[in-house]
Amino acid sequence: MLADFDAFLSDHANCERKASAMAMGMVVKYPDRPLVIPALIDVAQEELTHFAQVYELMRSRDVALVRDTRDEYVIALMAQARHGRDERFLDRLLLACVVECRGAERFGLVADGLGDPVLAQFYGQLRRSEVKHGHVFADMALRYFAHTDVYRRMGQLVELEADIMSALPVRAALH
Ligand SMILES: [Fe+2]
Ligand SMILES: [Fe+2]
Repeated sequence: MLADFDAFLSDHANCERKASAMAMGMVVKYPDRPLVIPALIDVAQEELTHFAQVYELMRSRDVALVRDTRDEYVIALMAQARHGRDERFLDRLLLACVVECRGAERFGLVADGLGDPVLAQFYGQLRRSEVKHGHVFADMALRYFAHTDVYRRMGQLVELEADIMSALPVRAALH
């Protein structure tokens, strides 16, 4: 993957932009869930900052933004969200948590795999931020749902995510 770092960067920038839009999309979708709105706005802002930072890095390396391609991983994952008002809300929060944790793991691998200390530091910082977002989404779920329900569903989604991940081909991308 690291041999194709510039292609990875184009994908990474799009992922950050989509993560920001996804958080604001939840603000639009759930105006009646006030306990999560401030955290969603924070996440949206931080993801947009990540997008700006990655885009700066791309410019410095003469790498252009690319159009979105289908993210089979995220599509397959989001298809796991159940229907029903509460079920869907819980699943969307927990799926966001899973995506953040997987992103953090990948950034850790990138940070460790890059020879460049400046890039390694940047990806290390992103990793910490995505770990925090993972906690933030779990915390949002716990504001509206019982511990047992949150952790039971989280366990199921983590297993489903592992199956989805292992079924996909490896490519120069975040997922
Ligand atoms: Fe991010
Ligand atoms: Fe994040």
